[in-house]
Amino acid sequence: MVKIAPSVLAADFVNLQRDIIGVAQAGADYLHIDVMDGVFVPNISIGIPVVKAIRQVTDMPLDVHLMIIKPIRFVAQFAQAGADLISFHLEADEPQQIQAAIDKVKSLGKKVGLSLKPNTPANALLPYLHDLDLILIMTVEPGFGGQAFMANQLEKIRSVAALIETAGTSCELSVDGGIDPTTAPLVRAAGANVLVAGSAIFGEPDRGAAIAALR
Ligand code: DX5
Ligand code: ZN
Repeated sequence: MVKIAPSVLAADFVNLQRDIIGVAQAGADYLHIDVMDGVFVPNISIGIPVVKAIRQVTDMPLDVHLMIIKPIRFVAQFAQAGADLISFHLEADEPQQIQAAIDKVKSLGKKVGLSLKPNTPANALLPYLHDLDLILIMTVEPGFGGQAFMANQLEKIRSVAALIETAGTSCELSVDGGIDPTTAPLVRAAGANVLVAGSAIFGEPDRGAAIAALR
């Protein structure tokens, strides 16, 4: 079954605990936490202390999405803060440093994901494929919630699904950006098995119904 990862970027930050417990009770599989540095993306969101605080109030697997340059500088601190899976961007550093960051996350006993911005082709993943627990395909330009889904990413999702199939790994294929009940069937048909959604879950009063609509 497809997994649902609510993105806390769209939660009510004043009532974060309430919103997190709500999506856990509504059957969410992962909690997606967007970290932005104002450099890799033109926005700043939340950081290490907030991940640590969230860790205190939920047992849900924490799927931390780093939209920061040179992620190797911070992966250990996010692991220490309680992340279960740490994803960062392939575009965020030189290839050697990306590989080093992957190795570091794994050495800390955490799962590792690599994310692709919309203009980055699927085959850029090839050098890293066998090391990854998750691939996160952005279906919007990263930086903001509530943007329109980019249908031109469907072909890339299909290509990445084929790469994973060929590699024969258990890597998950996640999509992030503009996922709602209309676009969810499209990305699932293309091969995605984890759906990140902010607005389509936290923007709805009934979180259980919102998650069910995505499944
Ligand atoms: C965007 C973030 C997303 C964002 C998705 O840079 O990575 O996780 O919260 O928000 P929606 O689902 O509203 O497009
Ligand atoms: Zn995200």
